[in-house]
Amino acid sequence: MESLRAFGYTPQTAVADLIDNSITATADRIWIEFDWDGADSRIAIGDNGLGMTEAELKQAMRPGSMSPQEKRAVDDLGRFGLGLKTASFSQCRELTVITKTKADGVHARQWDLDTVVATHEWRLLHGYPENCADLAERLDAQPRGTVVVWQHLDRIVGTADVDDEDAHRRFLELARSVRSHLSMTFHRFLAPREGRTVTVNDHEVPPWDPFLSRSRARQVLAAEELPLAGGKVVVQPVVLPHRSKLTAEEFELASGERGWNSLQGFYVYRNKRLLVAGDWLGLGFQKEEHYKLARIQVDIANEMDALWQIDVRKSMAQPPGVLRAELRRVAKVTRVRAVEVYRHRGKILTRQKEKGLSPAWLQLVMHGKVSYQVNRDHPAVVEAIEHPSAQNVRNLLKIVEGTIPIPLISIASAERPEEQAGPFEGVSSNEVSTLATALYKSLRGRGEDHVAARDRVLTTDPFQYFPELYEVLDTHDEQEAGA
Ligand SMILES: Nc1ncnc2c1ncn2[C@@H]1O[C@H](COP(=O)(O)OP(=O)(O)OP(=O)(O)O)[C@@H](O)[C@H]1O
Ligand SMILES: [Mg+2]
Repeated sequence: MESLRAFGYTPQTAVADLIDNSITATADRIWIEFDWDGADSRIAIGDNGLGMTEAELKQAMRPGSMSPQEKRAVDDLGRFGLGLKTASFSQCRELTVITKTKADGVHARQWDLDTVVATHEWRLLHGYPENCADLAERLDAQPRGTVVVWQHLDRIVGTADVDDEDAHRRFLELARSVRSHLSMTFHRFLAPREGRTVTVNDHEVPPWDPFLSRSRARQVLAAEELPLAGGKVVVQPVVLPHRSKLTAEEFELASGERGWNSLQGFYVYRNKRLLVAGDWLGLGFQKEEHYKLARIQVDIANEMDALWQIDVRKSMAQPPGVLRAELRRVAKVTRVRAVEVYRHRGKILTRQKEKGLSPAWLQLVMHGKVSYQVNRDHPAVVEAIEHPSAQNVRNLLKIVEGTIPIPLISIASAERPEEQAGPFEGVSSNEVSTLATALYKSLRGRGEDHVAARDRVLTTDPFQYFPELYEVLDTHDEQEAGA
């Protein structure tokens, strides 16, 4: 029993595992309550599903209540006959299940790990503790359903005092975070047309749709059906809209708890229930800023569980070997499209000039190398050249610094590092010498001696890349001296 506690659930995934059971029991009203009472706090998950007869309840309380080999109904979210027990014991030491069917009325059973340890017996207790009477009443008021209660939450509240403000705050914060996890995991069950409500402490859990289905600016690429084990895996790639096409609220929402960058990749659903959110599934891709708009929906059926190595927690899925090449291909195509949308603004930058606008920066490609140039036609540049006052130079620097085309540069250098021009690459050595000499002269003009001025130039960006300037400047000095 103690080993059943070590499946690696988080409180969020543990609650989700119980919601699986409620949804499989066809519940359309599910409520979760975090009741703070210090060390006696409890978490209850109630539903109005089919409920269980007494015999079914006893069976359900057994670890391994059903073999993973057994064929399941197509919409069954379970697999191992373990979740109720492993999820619960990962968070608490007392698990009570109260359930009601139309035919068999209300029944309750409880596992208390301390009793099991003390008696060395698998003693499944009858009934429910007194402090759960309110929950039993609530259940009895409905035609049927089930309430699962976690008490003795040693891993969540420990021995906290009821007046411990910090512990109380953490408990409520956990409730909020569970709500957000459910919002994502079950978003397809929470869509309005499903007619199902889930609440956490009376706050309704809204669906969180990673694909922004309501946004018209997104790109839905061609769906693919990949055959697997007599069935099919449905893959639907989506490229989310560029930030500029979303309202601030939509943008914020789509970034979720984890942020845009970490949410790119595959979303694997088993019977519409999200198992893995935003992951490249070990197919050899990295999460990179410019691919962040790529999200790919993958739908699998519960008969493929073994092939995808679904675990008890339903928070892992590994693509079977035969699908890897196909998934990699889809990912590549989606990523290419995602970069196009992401860099759209960058393209605009280059096109602006054609349209008569004045970008501060231009992207140049010369001899296959990409470099960037401050636009000589930009009014601030023109002004600084024609009226070179301190203020105009400062204005120019401000504009140059404030408009560095970072997205454009980072995409180009991540995609084709070998094509990026190095400092002053492609600039003729004459031009470099002229610039260096001008700087040298102005330093000499300000009273520095030959050696100091020469060395200053050679340690000034970008002249440090041109050690041959040493000779040039030395010769220059000799010429000066000779003249
Ligand atoms: N809320 C519920 N309403 C009705 N029946 C339930 C409920 N929760 C559990 N059960 C019954 O208890 C059984 C055991 O649940 P448990 O979560 O341990 O395993 P499972 O759902 O079959 O598989 P998995 O380990 O993959 O979750 C279920 O198969 C179901 O018959
Ligand atoms: Mg289950």
